[in-house]
Amino acid sequence: MDRREFIVKNGKVLITLSMLGTGLLSLTGCSSDQETKYSSTVGTSKELPLSESKHVLVAYFSHSGNTRQIANQVHESIGGDIFEIQTVDPYPSDYDKVVEIAKQEQKSAYRPAIKTKVESMDSYSTVFIGYPNWWGTIPMAVFTFLEGNDFSGKTIVPFCTHEGSLLGGSVTDIAKLCPQSTLLKGLAVRGKDVKKAQNKVSEWLRDIGMTS
Ligand SMILES: Cc1cc2nc3c(=O)[nH]c(=O)nc-3n(C[C@H](O)[C@H](O)[C@H](O)COP(=O)(O)O)c2cc1C
Repeated sequence: MDRREFIVKNGKVLITLSMLGTGLLSLTGCSSDQETKYSSTVGTSKELPLSESKHVLVAYFSHSGNTRQIANQVHESIGGDIFEIQTVDPYPSDYDKVVEIAKQEQKSAYRPAIKTKVESMDSYSTVFIGYPNWWGTIPMAVFTFLEGNDFSGKTIVPFCTHEGSLLGGSVTDIAKLCPQSTLLKGLAVRGKDVKKAQNKVSEWLRDIGMTS
């Protein structure tokens, strides 16, 4: 059984692979930001009345299921609609293969095609965007999703799961892609903690004024 940990050093994402207690550096790659930021842009939000929940969309991408669990927890607390961002060509389930593919995709700024579109994006005023931290930022499929929809005037609420680099540069990248949106404070949950994250999720939703 091995355990991978992602750390960010001098703008590089490093993967450490710990096997039987022996730490060894196995792979390096560039994060999309020279300076990886750990804190997210904080906006303000009026408290969301329950009647407003129909204007909320929880959109997420998940490769191995961690982010899906957080997305479901958010959706259970907030209501609204939930949408899974799925690529036309699925990623392999083998961890090392997907890590390598994602690195190449990031290098070449590839935009994988997405299976389905959100119907009537116009009807949502608040969009939660959930994703695993991939090489220090949002997966390329989330780039496709953000570029393929108009988020002007909407409130965007990011959340991610990760193995050490928290939100990384993802919030900065989302802000660049959606300059006309209000970004609220994001949530980062470690992959292994997703099952017991409900309290953390609830606190965060209260903190950003989404629940009372
Ligand atoms: C392609 C790939 C790249 C990753 N890059 C990072 C990273 O840069 N920093 C980090 O903390 N975790 C990284 N991880 C770990 C994932 O963010 C973490 O396992 C996450 O919880 C997976 O979410 P999911 O189950 O929803 O796919 C990476 C995982 C994969 C597969």
